[in-house]
Amino acid sequence: MTTHARPKSRYDTRPASLPNARQEAIWNGPVGRHWAEQQDRYDAMSGDLNDHLFAAAAIGDGDRVLDIGCGAGTVTRIAARLAGGGRAVGVDISEPLLARARARTAAEGVPNVSYERGDAQTHPFPAGGYDVAISRGGVMFFADHAAAFGNIARALRPGGRLVFACPQPASPDIEESRALGTLASLLGAQGATASPESADARAAMASLSDPRTIRAALAAYTDVDVTALTIETYWGKDPSDAVGFLLSRTPDAAVPRVTRKAMEDVLSPYAGGRGVRMKARVWLVTAARPS
Ligand SMILES: C[S@@+](CC[C@H](N)C(=O)[O-])C[C@H]1O[C@@H](n2cnc3c(N)ncnc32)[C@H](O)[C@@H]1O
Repeated sequence: MTTHARPKSRYDTRPASLPNARQEAIWNGPVGRHWAEQQDRYDAMSGDLNDHLFAAAAIGDGDRVLDIGCGAGTVTRIAARLAGGGRAVGVDISEPLLARARARTAAEGVPNVSYERGDAQTHPFPAGGYDVAISRGGVMFFADHAAAFGNIARALRPGGRLVFACPQPASPDIEESRALGTLASLLGAQGATASPESADARAAMASLSDPRTIRAALAAYTDVDVTALTIETYWGKDPSDAVGFLLSRTPDAAVPRVTRKAMEDVLSPYAGGRGVRMKARVWLVTAARPS
């Protein structure tokens, strides 16, 4: 993965060269703003994961929870409610998403949540400050996975738990991969390709899709378990709504009506009473900091 030096301003106390400068730029640019604006859609898309994630995390009253790559903080706030007398802290590299997280937290009145802007690979977490670290798809963007998960291990108390979900490899036998591949071909034929930023974000999302990579990254942990899950991802209330959402990711592209219709036809088989839903495969990973 490419890393870039970042110019240092006199108000910026962070080092001028950050290991994840490219992802920081991506998540503070149009990709991050799209996620912030479309928070409800993205939450619904991966909402099926929540029960699996929280069953594995077993958050109890009084727990101190760290949510890595918390985005707009929906999972952080669920964690905080489960932690009761404890608290949840979300860390993320994206200011637009953290602004959204803070606004939602104020609106929902969740008192035991806070957010920190930082790169989880290098962020100076309090040593042993957390009982459990969780992430719904926020741990795949590190230039150095072992360094990042090592930093997160230091943030956990001895015996503290790590639970995260990340995508399995794309494959034509997975509904979501197959449909998204066909939709990308239809858009590509119109010259509507993903921006370099979106392409880099998607490439990074796949960086932990091989369980061997996950296990190598978790060298600092014990009791590592990688379980395959099939979930349903939500894309819209009907094919037209789902296509509108997909096209909002390439807002400058002129897509003719006939192509929109072809895209809707690709999604029609997946439309039902609960909207457009496609089967997707993820890994649910659990591990612990050695006691
Ligand atoms: C796919 S989104 C998932 C967001 C959130 N966990 C959710 O379920 O909605 C990935 C998130 O990871 C964040 N991220 C990427 N690299 C990061 C890093 N090095 N440290 C902290 N957060 C990071 C992004 O800003 C983004 O919010």
